[in-house]
Amino acid sequence: MALHISATNPEHPALLLELPWDLPLEDWPERHLVPLPRGISRHVVRYARAGDEVVAVKELAERPAVREYELLRSLHRLNIPAVDPLAVVTGRTRDDEAPLEPVLITRHLNGSMPYRSMFETTMRPATMHRLMDALAVLLVRLHLAGFAWGDCSLSNTLFRRDAGAFAAYLVDAETGELHQKLSDGQRSYDLDLARVNISGELLDLEASGALHPSVDPIDFGTEICGRYQSLWQELTRTSVYPAGKHHYIDRRVRRLNELGFDVAEMQIAHSSNGDSVTFVPKVVDAGHHQRQLLRLTGLDTEENQARRLLNDLESWMATQEDYAPGDPLAARPEVLAHRWVREVFRPTVRAIPKELRGSMDAAELYHGLLEHRWYLSERAQHDIGLDTAVEDYVKHILPKLRAKLPAPDAAASRAPSA
Ligand SMILES: Nc1ncnc2c1ncn2[C@@H]1O[C@H](COP(=O)(O)OP(=O)(O)OP(=O)(O)O)[C@@H](O)[C@H]1O
Ligand SMILES: [Mg+2]
Repeated sequence: MALHISATNPEHPALLLELPWDLPLEDWPERHLVPLPRGISRHVVRYARAGDEVVAVKELAERPAVREYELLRSLHRLNIPAVDPLAVVTGRTRDDEAPLEPVLITRHLNGSMPYRSMFETTMRPATMHRLMDALAVLLVRLHLAGFAWGDCSLSNTLFRRDAGAFAAYLVDAETGELHQKLSDGQRSYDLDLARVNISGELLDLEASGALHPSVDPIDFGTEICGRYQSLWQELTRTSVYPAGKHHYIDRRVRRLNELGFDVAEMQIAHSSNGDSVTFVPKVVDAGHHQRQLLRLTGLDTEENQARRLLNDLESWMATQEDYAPGDPLAARPEVLAHRWVREVFRPTVRAIPKELRGSMDAAELYHGLLEHRWYLSERAQHDIGLDTAVEDYVKHILPKLRAKLPAPDAAASRAPSA
């Protein structure tokens, strides 16, 4: 049987050919290996150098190797945080033709740590909670995409620090199954497996003296399920609001954003008598809004700004007569978006006197305005509208902001004496 490398990127096989495929992974010479921390696993896993990259190589039978490779590719397409599959190598033999197990190759997740290494430097309970949150978020994301993990555990997750929080990545997809949609039964079965695995792993740490004494392994397993449940509920429930209480939608979207989720679309429906508004958010990955806003309006902004602007755009679109998603005869979103830029965005920004704008660009100003509108609407318990927000912003907020920031010319004239 000849050595066969099937890879996602056509450049990879050449780099991978340099590795000693005629040796079992256990016997690979040091010069190919990269000594980074690894989690516990049944299979032999090693990190190796391939060109400029560090790859994780896992020895396993062909069927599961190919299956896991395909699943990881699907997760990649679905934008789920998971390790990146690079190749499957089959037909390995020793010098004497004795067969060797195939391998699955994934890209080493830069900056990631298996949870055990994180516990080696004593972890405080607050940090543990953030880590658990990250794992609950990952599991929810997977379930939203229709993926039943089948073996969610701390060992099968990689953690990466993310501006004070943690981001969790799936590392082991071997037992996973991708469906169109998961039933409640499938989800709760998967969640129960996670609970048992996690409590087991924490008990194990406790036995080795590596767990903070304030952490109870069993309670923690239960708690992470609680976090999962409330997150799932928050993300998927349908809300009904009284018509006119538009800021309720804003409030819900904010809560989702705070949980680290982005809302791509809102399905907004008005009841036939016009009394209430039904709202279902569609949750997506981060970075989505920036691309979406740029595509629709040509405005290039930061992600958080893009999110707020798009929310505003979508709520506005829903008030337009020719807005009917899915109807081929209705106005296209791009057309409506340009109308919004022309009729709402630009006039609003222009209403702000130039001398008050300082160095803020149009998107920043508009974003600030939306924030202010949100704040005032919450205080007033009803939507105060954009015009009132602009008026108040110009009168009360911008002068204060300007007082804090030196005008560009003032800063320049001070510079030489500093
Ligand atoms: N791409 C990667 N980046 C970083 N670390 C990785 C990567 N792939 C594997 N690892 C490390 O290797 C460990 C074992 O990998 P994996 O869980 O896939 O093996 P396994 O033998 O299938 O595990 P199990 O015993 O759960 O079946 C992981 O816990 C992780 O620490
Ligand atoms: Mg594993």
